[in-house]
Amino acid sequence: MLAPKILVIPGSLRIGSHNTRLAALAAKELALAGAEVTRISLEDYPLPLFDAESAGAPPAAAAKLNRMLTAHQGAFIASPEITASVSPLIKNAIDWMSRPREGGEPNYSAFRGRAFALGAAASDLSGGIRGLIALRQILELGCGALVIPEQVTVPRADQAFDDDDNLKDRAQAAALRALARRLVETASIMR
Ligand SMILES: Cc1cc2nc3c(=O)[nH]c(=O)nc-3n(C[C@H](O)[C@H](O)[C@H](O)COP(=O)(O)O)c2cc1C
Repeated sequence: MLAPKILVIPGSLRIGSHNTRLAALAAKELALAGAEVTRISLEDYPLPLFDAESAGAPPAAAAKLNRMLTAHQGAFIASPEITASVSPLIKNAIDWMSRPREGGEPNYSAFRGRAFALGAAASDLSGGIRGLIALRQILELGCGALVIPEQVTVPRADQAFDDDDNLKDRAQAAALRALARRLVETASIMR
């Protein structure tokens, strides 16, 4: 089996972000599961707030992000829950990626033919589940993407990681490992 290329996207730019920590751990598990992993920060893709009426070409960062996703067979997104929904940072990036306008590809083409897996870390007890429900809806119903049914939520994220940045809870750690394997398996048949 050729190693599938998996993109890892943390949905927060906050220093000390729990989701960036979760994304780093997911990247490690994906690599152990046989993927060729690219972990990015949306800080390197500065995008204005998407406005459907904006005229002209998308910003260079949008085209670059679109190409980055297209170069991978799968993606893992770790998104905080913000006001009972998805991180606006992630939603904005998805909206820009959905409109390539480069080379005449159809809208949402970057999301088709690749597999997505989702995780969230939150400081409260819910673990960011409502944000993942919203993100799943956006990706599946909005973008036509394939999203793996399993997902990982990390409640009380401020206490969930040990000094080596591993999850302390064995069931959560096992769930992340299983999700990483599932993403690698699914992405590898999506060429
Ligand atoms: C405006 C705002 C709204 C938030 N709404 C929620 C929420 O609905 N549910 C939740 O679990 N956390 C909520 N939070 C807390 C963030 O999800 C939490 O700070 C999280 O750690 C941010 O992710 P990060 O650690 O990856 O930066 C909110 C934070 C802000 C600033």
